[in-house]
Amino acid sequence: MEAILEKYKTVQQKEVKVWFKAASVEKFPKDGGACVKYKDRQIAVFNFERKKKWYACQNVCPHKLEMVISRGMIGDEKGLPKVACPMHKKTFSLETGENLNGDLHAIATYPVKIEDNFVYIGFSE
Ligand code: FES
Repeated sequence: MEAILEKYKTVQQKEVKVWFKAASVEKFPKDGGACVKYKDRQIAVFNFERKKKWYACQNVCPHKLEMVISRGMIGDEKGLPKVACPMHKKTFSLETGENLNGDLHAIATYPVKIEDNFVYIGFSE
């Protein structure tokens, strides 16, 4: 696997050790994404307003290693939230990171919480 992808590992809620304060809620477009930086990682954060849920995942697409996932369209696949990479429309589950229309590596996903109007992303280190 490319070195850049090795920086990104899915974090489950119970593994969170650091809640990174990303930005206030208003900084994120409704039903769209924005990119935040944590250490040397780019994290895509989505305010899925239609579902009243927030999601975070790696910003790098495993297809061509472009830092573009945050600019992808979000949508729904049989009730599951997904994001489509804006480059070649590979789609990924925002919950599991699984590539839904191919056999690419899953993308890493991270827990998100909202507190006092701020968005926090959970990391294990
Ligand atoms: S770079 Fe994301 S689908 Fe090709």
